[in-house]
Amino acid sequence: MTHIIRKVAVVEGDGIGHEVIPVALEVLKVFCPGMEFIPVEAGYDRFERTGEAIGKGDIGLLKESDAVLFGAVTTPPSPEYRSVVVRIRKELDLFANIRPVIGPGFDITIVRENLEGLYSGIEEIGPDRATTLRVLTKIECERIARFACGLAGNRCLTIGHKANVLKSDVFFRDICVRTANLEGVAWKERFIDALCLDVLQHPSRYDIIVTTNMFGDILSDVAAYLAGGLGMLPSANIGEHQALFEPVHGSAPDIAGKGIANPAAAIRSVAMLLTYAGDQEAADRVEEAVRRTINRGIKTPDLGGNATTAGFGEAVLTEIETGLAWKRRK
Ligand code: NAD
Ligand code: IPM
Ligand code: MN
Repeated sequence: MTHIIRKVAVVEGDGIGHEVIPVALEVLKVFCPGMEFIPVEAGYDRFERTGEAIGKGDIGLLKESDAVLFGAVTTPPSPEYRSVVVRIRKELDLFANIRPVIGPGFDITIVRENLEGLYSGIEEIGPDRATTLRVLTKIECERIARFACGLAGNRCLTIGHKANVLKSDVFFRDICVRTANLEGVAWKERFIDALCLDVLQHPSRYDIIVTTNMFGDILSDVAAYLAGGLGMLPSANIGEHQALFEPVHGSAPDIAGKGIANPAAAIRSVAMLLTYAGDQEAADRVEEAVRRTINRGIKTPDLGGNATTAGFGEAVLTEIETGLAWKRRK
Protein backbone atom coordinates (compact mmCIF):
# COMPACT_ATOMS: atom_id res chain seq x y z
CA MET A 1 0.00 0.00 0.00
CA THR A 2 1.28 3.46 -0.92
CA HIS A 3 1.33 6.14 1.77
CA ILE A 4 1.70 9.76 0.84
CA ILE A 5 4.63 11.21 2.74
CA ARG A 6 5.12 14.95 2.72
CA LYS A 7 6.26 15.69 6.26
CA VAL A 8 8.96 13.66 7.96
CA ALA A 9 9.89 14.34 11.58
CA VAL A 10 13.56 13.61 12.19
CA VAL A 11 14.64 12.56 15.69
CA GLU A 12 18.36 11.93 15.99
CA GLY A 13 18.04 11.07 19.70
CA ASP A 14 21.24 10.39 21.66
CA GLY A 15 24.71 8.97 21.07
CA ILE A 16 25.30 7.55 17.61
CA GLY A 17 21.81 8.70 16.59
CA HIS A 18 23.52 12.05 15.92
CA GLU A 19 25.98 10.33 13.60
CA VAL A 20 23.90 7.81 11.63
CA ILE A 21 20.74 9.86 11.06
CA PRO A 22 22.37 12.76 9.15
CA VAL A 23 23.88 10.17 6.78
CA ALA A 24 20.54 8.37 6.35
CA LEU A 25 18.77 11.69 5.77
CA GLU A 26 21.13 12.54 2.90
CA VAL A 27 20.09 9.27 1.27
CA LEU A 28 16.40 10.04 1.73
CA LYS A 29 16.86 13.51 0.22
CA VAL A 30 18.21 11.98 -3.02
CA PHE A 31 14.85 10.33 -3.64
CA CYS A 32 12.48 12.78 -2.02
CA PRO A 33 13.76 16.31 -2.63
CA GLY A 34 10.29 17.79 -2.07
CA MET A 35 9.76 16.35 1.39
CA GLU A 36 9.61 18.61 4.42
CA PHE A 37 11.91 17.56 7.26
CA ILE A 38 11.13 18.66 10.80
CA PRO A 39 13.89 18.18 13.37
CA VAL A 40 12.66 17.14 16.82
CA GLU A 41 14.90 16.91 19.85
CA ALA A 42 14.14 13.98 22.14
CA GLY A 43 16.08 11.64 24.37
CA TYR A 44 18.06 11.37 27.54
CA ASP A 45 20.37 14.32 26.81
CA ARG A 46 17.31 16.52 26.53
CA PHE A 47 15.90 15.04 29.74
CA GLU A 48 19.10 15.83 31.63
CA ARG A 49 19.09 19.40 30.30
CA THR A 50 15.40 20.24 30.63
CA GLY A 51 13.79 17.55 32.81
CA GLU A 52 11.71 16.34 29.86
CA ALA A 53 12.78 13.67 27.34
CA ILE A 54 10.37 15.13 24.78
CA GLY A 55 8.17 18.20 24.85
CA LYS A 56 4.37 17.88 24.72
CA GLY A 57 4.34 20.05 21.62
CA ASP A 58 6.90 17.77 20.04
CA ILE A 59 4.68 14.73 20.52
CA GLY A 60 2.11 16.80 18.61
CA LEU A 61 4.66 17.46 15.85
CA LEU A 62 5.35 13.73 15.56
CA LYS A 63 1.62 12.99 15.38
CA GLU A 64 1.19 15.56 12.60
CA SER A 65 4.00 14.09 10.50
CA ASP A 66 3.41 11.40 7.90
CA ALA A 67 6.49 9.49 9.00
CA VAL A 68 9.29 9.70 11.53
CA LEU A 69 12.96 8.95 10.96
CA PHE A 70 14.39 8.03 14.35
CA GLY A 71 17.96 7.38 15.50
CA ALA A 72 18.25 5.93 18.99
CA VAL A 73 17.81 7.13 22.53
CA THR A 74 19.66 6.31 25.70
CA THR A 75 17.42 4.62 28.28
CA PRO A 76 19.30 4.19 31.54
CA PRO A 77 18.01 1.68 34.09
CA SER A 78 16.13 3.84 36.57
CA PRO A 79 12.96 3.52 38.66
CA GLU A 80 11.70 6.93 37.44
CA TYR A 81 12.81 7.24 33.82
CA ARG A 82 10.73 5.73 31.03
CA SER A 83 12.09 5.23 27.53
CA VAL A 84 10.98 7.95 25.17
CA VAL A 85 10.88 5.59 22.20
CA VAL A 86 8.43 3.32 24.02
CA ARG A 87 6.32 6.40 24.78
CA ILE A 88 6.39 7.55 21.15
CA ARG A 89 5.36 4.10 19.89
CA LYS A 90 2.37 4.21 22.25
CA GLU A 91 1.41 7.84 21.58
CA LEU A 92 1.48 7.26 17.82
CA ASP A 93 -0.24 3.85 18.12
CA LEU A 94 2.56 2.14 16.17
CA PHE A 95 1.38 -1.39 16.87
CA ALA A 96 3.64 -3.42 14.58
CA ASN A 97 7.42 -3.44 14.76
CA ILE A 98 8.83 -5.03 11.62
CA ARG A 99 12.44 -6.16 11.70
CA PRO A 100 13.67 -7.83 8.51
CA VAL A 101 16.76 -10.04 8.69
CA ILE A 102 17.99 -10.86 5.22
CA GLY A 103 21.08 -12.69 4.00
CA PRO A 104 22.23 -15.44 1.65
CA GLY A 105 19.60 -18.22 1.72
CA PHE A 106 17.26 -16.59 4.20
CA ASP A 107 14.68 -13.81 4.25
CA ILE A 108 13.12 -13.47 7.69
CA THR A 109 10.74 -10.80 8.93
CA ILE A 110 10.26 -10.54 12.66
CA VAL A 111 6.90 -8.98 13.52
CA ARG A 112 7.00 -7.76 17.08
CA GLU A 113 3.88 -6.67 18.96
CA ASN A 114 4.84 -3.13 19.87
CA LEU A 115 2.42 -1.72 22.45
CA GLU A 116 1.83 -4.10 25.33
CA GLY A 117 3.12 -7.33 26.89
CA LEU A 118 5.90 -6.61 29.38
CA TYR A 119 5.95 -3.02 28.12
CA SER A 120 2.53 -2.32 29.64
CA GLY A 121 4.03 0.25 32.01
CA ILE A 122 1.93 -1.27 34.80
CA GLU A 123 4.64 -1.93 37.34
CA GLU A 124 6.02 -0.98 40.70
CA ILE A 125 9.12 -1.33 42.78
CA GLY A 126 8.79 -1.80 46.52
CA PRO A 127 11.50 -2.44 49.08
CA ASP A 128 10.93 -6.21 49.00
CA ARG A 129 9.09 -6.88 45.79
CA ALA A 130 8.84 -5.58 42.27
CA THR A 131 6.23 -6.40 39.66
CA THR A 132 5.68 -5.74 35.98
CA LEU A 133 2.32 -6.75 34.59
CA ARG A 134 2.46 -8.58 31.26
CA VAL A 135 -0.74 -7.47 29.56
CA LEU A 136 -1.98 -9.00 26.32
CA THR A 137 -5.35 -7.91 24.98
CA LYS A 138 -7.53 -9.62 22.39
CA ILE A 139 -7.72 -6.49 20.29
CA GLU A 140 -3.93 -6.04 20.04
CA CYS A 141 -3.18 -9.76 19.62
CA GLU A 142 -5.69 -9.94 16.78
CA ARG A 143 -4.30 -6.76 15.22
CA ILE A 144 -0.70 -8.02 15.20
CA ALA A 145 -1.73 -11.52 14.11
CA ARG A 146 -3.70 -10.12 11.16
CA PHE A 147 -0.81 -7.86 10.22
CA ALA A 148 1.68 -10.76 10.33
CA CYS A 149 -0.68 -12.95 8.26
CA GLY A 150 -0.95 -10.15 5.71
CA LEU A 151 2.84 -10.06 5.40
CA ALA A 152 3.08 -13.85 5.27
CA GLY A 153 0.69 -14.33 2.31
CA ASN A 154 1.61 -17.77 1.06
CA ARG A 155 4.76 -18.04 3.17
CA CYS A 156 4.79 -19.72 6.57
CA LEU A 157 4.03 -17.84 9.76
CA THR A 158 6.00 -18.93 12.82
CA ILE A 159 4.44 -18.07 16.16
CA GLY A 160 7.14 -17.52 18.78
CA HIS A 161 5.88 -17.89 22.35
CA LYS A 162 6.39 -19.39 25.78
CA ALA A 163 2.91 -20.88 26.18
CA ASN A 164 4.38 -23.85 28.03
CA VAL A 165 4.83 -21.51 31.01
CA LEU A 166 2.91 -18.26 30.51
CA LYS A 167 -0.89 -18.14 30.42
CA SER A 168 -0.68 -14.82 28.59
CA ASP A 169 1.19 -16.63 25.82
CA VAL A 170 -1.45 -19.37 25.64
CA PHE A 171 -3.80 -16.48 24.90
CA PHE A 172 -1.42 -14.97 22.29
CA ARG A 173 -0.70 -18.32 20.63
CA ASP A 174 -4.38 -19.28 20.37
CA ILE A 175 -5.30 -15.95 18.78
CA CYS A 176 -2.44 -16.24 16.28
CA VAL A 177 -3.44 -19.82 15.39
CA ARG A 178 -7.10 -18.83 14.98
CA THR A 179 -6.22 -15.82 12.84
CA ALA A 180 -3.83 -17.80 10.63
CA ASN A 181 -6.48 -20.50 10.10
CA LEU A 182 -9.13 -17.89 9.28
CA GLU A 183 -6.83 -16.18 6.79
CA GLY A 184 -5.62 -19.44 5.25
CA VAL A 185 -1.99 -18.82 6.25
CA ALA A 186 0.27 -21.80 6.90
CA TRP A 187 1.73 -21.65 10.41
CA LYS A 188 3.99 -23.40 12.84
CA GLU A 189 4.90 -22.61 16.41
CA ARG A 190 8.15 -22.62 18.35
CA PHE A 191 9.00 -21.92 21.98
CA ILE A 192 10.88 -18.64 21.99
CA ASP A 193 14.02 -19.98 23.69
CA ALA A 194 14.44 -22.82 21.18
CA LEU A 195 13.57 -20.39 18.38
CA CYS A 196 16.44 -18.07 19.34
CA LEU A 197 18.92 -20.86 18.66
CA ASP A 198 17.18 -22.43 15.67
CA VAL A 199 16.96 -19.12 13.85
CA LEU A 200 20.77 -18.92 14.06
CA GLN A 201 21.36 -22.56 13.10
CA HIS A 202 18.69 -22.89 10.41
CA PRO A 203 17.63 -19.40 9.30
CA SER A 204 16.21 -20.71 6.02
CA ARG A 205 13.43 -22.45 8.01
CA TYR A 206 11.80 -19.11 8.80
CA ASP A 207 9.81 -16.55 6.81
CA ILE A 208 7.59 -14.42 9.03
CA ILE A 209 7.91 -14.70 12.80
CA VAL A 210 5.24 -13.12 14.99
CA THR A 211 5.89 -12.71 18.69
CA THR A 212 5.20 -10.57 21.74
CA ASN A 213 6.94 -7.32 22.59
CA MET A 214 9.88 -8.34 24.78
CA PHE A 215 10.48 -11.65 23.00
CA GLY A 216 10.60 -9.76 19.70
CA ASP A 217 13.08 -7.31 21.16
CA ILE A 218 15.43 -10.10 22.21
CA LEU A 219 14.92 -12.25 19.13
CA SER A 220 15.77 -9.36 16.81
CA ASP A 221 19.11 -8.65 18.51
CA VAL A 222 19.90 -12.39 18.41
CA ALA A 223 18.98 -12.60 14.72
CA ALA A 224 21.08 -9.50 13.95
CA TYR A 225 24.04 -11.88 14.19
CA LEU A 226 22.89 -13.38 10.85
CA ALA A 227 23.02 -10.03 9.10
CA GLY A 228 26.42 -8.87 10.35
CA GLY A 229 25.44 -7.39 13.70
CA LEU A 230 23.38 -4.55 15.08
CA GLY A 231 24.92 -2.01 12.73
CA MET A 232 23.01 -3.67 9.89
CA LEU A 233 19.39 -4.17 11.04
CA PRO A 234 16.66 -1.68 10.09
CA SER A 235 13.11 -1.57 11.39
CA ALA A 236 9.72 -0.03 10.80
CA ASN A 237 7.12 0.74 13.46
CA ILE A 238 3.79 0.72 11.68
CA GLY A 239 0.50 2.27 12.74
CA GLU A 240 -2.83 2.71 10.96
CA HIS A 241 -1.95 6.22 9.75
CA GLN A 242 1.78 6.79 10.24
CA ALA A 243 5.04 4.97 10.69
CA LEU A 244 8.41 5.42 12.37
CA PHE A 245 11.62 4.07 10.91
CA GLU A 246 14.65 3.36 13.08
CA PRO A 247 17.69 1.13 13.28
CA VAL A 248 17.26 -1.79 15.69
CA HIS A 249 20.39 -0.75 17.57
CA GLY A 250 20.62 1.71 20.45
CA SER A 251 22.66 4.84 21.13
CA ALA A 252 25.90 2.80 21.50
CA PRO A 253 27.58 5.00 24.12
CA ASP A 254 30.76 2.91 23.85
CA ILE A 255 31.47 4.23 20.35
CA ALA A 256 29.45 7.47 20.28
CA GLY A 257 31.37 10.56 19.16
CA LYS A 258 34.09 8.56 17.42
CA GLY A 259 32.61 8.77 13.93
CA ILE A 260 32.84 5.00 13.42
CA ALA A 261 29.21 3.89 13.88
CA ASN A 262 27.85 1.80 11.04
CA PRO A 263 25.09 3.86 9.36
CA ALA A 264 23.82 0.89 7.30
CA ALA A 265 20.94 0.10 9.69
CA ALA A 266 19.77 3.72 9.56
CA ILE A 267 20.18 3.90 5.77
CA ARG A 268 18.27 0.65 5.36
CA SER A 269 15.54 2.10 7.60
CA VAL A 270 15.25 4.83 4.95
CA ALA A 271 14.80 2.04 2.39
CA MET A 272 11.89 0.75 4.51
CA LEU A 273 10.44 4.27 4.56
CA LEU A 274 10.66 4.39 0.75
CA THR A 275 8.85 1.03 0.53
CA TYR A 276 6.14 2.40 2.83
CA ALA A 277 5.91 5.44 0.54
CA GLY A 278 5.29 3.08 -2.37
CA ASP A 279 8.66 3.66 -4.10
CA GLN A 280 9.98 0.09 -4.14
CA GLU A 281 12.41 0.90 -6.92
CA ALA A 282 14.11 3.57 -4.78
CA ALA A 283 14.14 1.21 -1.78
CA ASP A 284 15.83 -1.47 -3.90
CA ARG A 285 18.42 1.07 -5.09
CA VAL A 286 19.28 1.95 -1.51
CA GLU A 287 19.57 -1.71 -0.49
CA GLU A 288 21.68 -2.44 -3.55
CA ALA A 289 23.96 0.55 -2.84
CA VAL A 290 24.56 -0.63 0.75
CA ARG A 291 25.34 -4.16 -0.50
CA ARG A 292 27.73 -2.92 -3.18
CA THR A 293 29.52 -0.60 -0.76
CA ILE A 294 30.16 -3.48 1.64
CA ASN A 295 31.15 -5.82 -1.21
CA ARG A 296 33.73 -3.22 -2.30
CA GLY A 297 35.29 -3.62 1.14
CA ILE A 298 34.11 -0.27 2.50
CA LYS A 299 33.13 -1.32 6.02
CA THR A 300 32.99 0.29 9.44
CA PRO A 301 34.95 -1.40 12.27
CA ASP A 302 31.97 -3.50 13.47
CA LEU A 303 32.13 -5.26 10.08
CA GLY A 304 35.91 -5.60 10.27
CA GLY A 305 36.85 -2.55 8.20
CA ASN A 306 38.19 0.92 8.92
CA ALA A 307 35.69 3.16 7.15
CA THR A 308 34.14 6.05 9.05
CA THR A 309 30.40 6.70 9.32
CA ALA A 310 30.73 9.61 6.90
CA GLY A 311 32.99 7.63 4.53
CA PHE A 312 30.52 4.75 4.36
CA GLY A 313 27.68 7.21 3.76
CA GLU A 314 29.54 8.93 0.91
CA ALA A 315 30.28 5.57 -0.70
CA VAL A 316 26.59 4.63 -0.52
CA LEU A 317 25.59 7.97 -2.07
CA THR A 318 28.10 7.40 -4.89
CA GLU A 319 26.69 3.92 -5.50
CA ILE A 320 23.18 5.35 -5.60
CA GLU A 321 24.26 8.07 -8.05
CA THR A 322 26.02 5.50 -10.26
CA GLY A 323 22.92 3.35 -10.15
CA LEU A 324 20.70 6.29 -11.04
CA ALA A 325 23.02 7.30 -13.90
CA TRP A 326 22.94 3.72 -15.16
CA LYS A 327 19.16 3.74 -14.97
CA ARG A 328 18.91 7.08 -16.82
CA ARG A 329 21.07 5.69 -19.67
CA LYS A 330 18.77 2.67 -20.13
P1 NAD B 1 23.36 -0.76 21.55
O1 NAD B 1 22.56 -1.31 20.40
O2 NAD B 1 23.40 0.69 21.66
O3 NAD B 1 24.86 -1.31 21.45
C1 NAD B 1 25.20 -2.68 21.62
C2 NAD B 1 26.59 -2.93 21.00
O4 NAD B 1 26.47 -2.84 19.57
C3 NAD B 1 27.61 -1.88 21.41
O5 NAD B 1 28.87 -2.47 21.55
C4 NAD B 1 27.63 -0.91 20.22
O6 NAD B 1 28.83 -0.24 20.03
C5 NAD B 1 27.31 -1.83 19.06
N1 NAD B 1 26.57 -1.09 18.01
C6 NAD B 1 25.27 -0.74 18.05
N2 NAD B 1 24.95 -0.06 16.95
C7 NAD B 1 26.07 0.04 16.21
C8 NAD B 1 26.37 0.64 14.96
N3 NAD B 1 25.44 1.30 14.23
N4 NAD B 1 27.64 0.56 14.49
C9 NAD B 1 28.57 -0.12 15.19
N5 NAD B 1 28.35 -0.71 16.38
C10 NAD B 1 27.10 -0.63 16.88
O7 NAD B 1 22.77 -1.43 22.85
P2 NAD B 1 23.16 -1.16 24.38
O8 NAD B 1 24.61 -0.86 24.51
O9 NAD B 1 22.57 -2.30 25.08
O10 NAD B 1 22.31 0.13 24.75
C11 NAD B 1 22.82 1.46 24.75
C12 NAD B 1 21.68 2.42 25.02
O11 NAD B 1 20.79 2.45 23.92
C13 NAD B 1 20.83 2.01 26.24
O12 NAD B 1 20.53 3.16 26.96
C14 NAD B 1 19.62 1.37 25.63
O13 NAD B 1 18.50 1.45 26.46
C15 NAD B 1 19.45 2.20 24.38
N6 NAD B 1 18.73 1.55 23.27
C16 NAD B 1 17.88 2.34 22.56
C17 NAD B 1 17.22 1.85 21.45
C18 NAD B 1 16.29 2.73 20.68
O14 NAD B 1 16.30 3.92 20.86
N7 NAD B 1 15.44 2.20 19.83
C19 NAD B 1 17.46 0.53 21.04
C20 NAD B 1 18.34 -0.27 21.79
C21 NAD B 1 18.98 0.26 22.90
C1 IPM C 1 14.60 -1.55 20.74
C2 IPM C 1 15.08 -1.12 22.11
C3 IPM C 1 13.96 -0.51 22.93
C4 IPM C 1 12.93 -1.61 23.15
C5 IPM C 1 14.37 0.07 24.27
C6 IPM C 1 15.48 1.04 24.15
C7 IPM C 1 13.22 0.71 24.95
O1 IPM C 1 15.74 -2.15 22.76
O2 IPM C 1 13.97 -0.75 20.03
O3 IPM C 1 14.89 -2.68 20.35
O4 IPM C 1 13.06 -2.40 24.09
O5 IPM C 1 11.99 -1.67 22.37
MN1 MN D 1 16.17 -3.84 21.46
